[in-house]
Amino acid sequence: MAGPVVLGIESSCDETGAGIVRDGELLAHVVASSMDEHARFGGVVPEIAARAHLQAFNPVVRRALDEAGLRPGQIDAVAVTTGPGLSGALQVGLAGAKTFAYAAGIPLYGVHHLAGHVAADTLDHGPLPSPCVVLIVSGGHTSLLLVRDLVRDPILHLGDTLDDAAGECFDKVARILGLPYPGGPAIDRAAKDGDPLAVRFPRPLTRPGDDPYAFSFSGLKTAAARWVEQHRLRGEEPPVADGAAALQEAVADVLTRKALAACRAHDVRTLVVVGGVAANSRVRGLAEKRCASAGVELRVPAMTLCTDNGAMIAAVGDLLARAGAEPAPLDVSVDPSAPL
Ligand code: KG4
Ligand code: ZN
Repeated sequence: MAGPVVLGIESSCDETGAGIVRDGELLAHVVASSMDEHARFGGVVPEIAARAHLQAFNPVVRRALDEAGLRPGQIDAVAVTTGPGLSGALQVGLAGAKTFAYAAGIPLYGVHHLAGHVAADTLDHGPLPSPCVVLIVSGGHTSLLLVRDLVRDPILHLGDTLDDAAGECFDKVARILGLPYPGGPAIDRAAKDGDPLAVRFPRPLTRPGDDPYAFSFSGLKTAAARWVEQHRLRGEEPPVADGAAALQEAVADVLTRKALAACRAHDVRTLVVVGGVAANSRVRGLAEKRCASAGVELRVPAMTLCTDNGAMIAAVGDLLARAGAEPAPLDVSVDPSAPL
């Protein structure tokens, strides 16, 4: 017998996502982004994001239902991100999800945003092998996780960034280099014509004795700013392509080195990389190379599943519903700084 049809809602940052999943199969995947509205501020403005979710919520859910060829009455459960994320943004998604669940008389599941990112890969490559190491790298997160069973076992948080996220570092340095927002893709493009060895940027927290799984990217941003300043003090413009290539090399080196160290230490044969920064050509290239030489399988879901979306939340809801998990009470609230 077919399992429940689960509608997933995501609204923790600037993407309003609705996805529909049944038995691990993706039936619909719709995302509206307010990124363009934040561009001139150089980052996400919480108030603008919340209002954009309010406008996008119903149209996005309607489009997801249309895409799956379903009526609202054919949804069996709703899953929604309760945190972490921007409080106002989360509240819009949760209010919408609660209303849908209450009106339809179906269970509501609260989902941790990072569990969603982990589950995203299952929609592309099937169930996750146990155990696996998951590297989540985006504008908001840089987290290294050890996952056994997404629903039954707690996710083990191996490490996190102590300051900026990897994507944030790309975005901030891009701004310093005069490249457009979001900076990650712009750095990736600029780096194609650059020499990654032209500048030696630091590899933060990679010395013996450093926390093997913690990240730090704010020093890298400062190093890049200083490099730009040195050129300008000499009255010349910095070679942007070289700077972009060297920065990308430093970030990719640190991310993949630590992810593979985690695989080695925990005897894990599968590395999953998700988040917007997984799109970076050097991060992918170096991950492929280092995984191949370590005998580790690399899984990177399609880019539309890597970035924030509702399908990944539906994927967790689908696992929870099929495992008979307890639904959330209708007075459940958001938890903007939810721990794992
Ligand atoms: O997952 P995502 O869409 O949103 C969240 O932050 O949750 O990730 C966006 C981040 C931005 O910082 C963006 O600059 C970065 O991912 N990014 C990239 C690339 N594409 C997106 N960074 C480096 N290279 C890319 N090709
Ligand atoms: Zn995210």
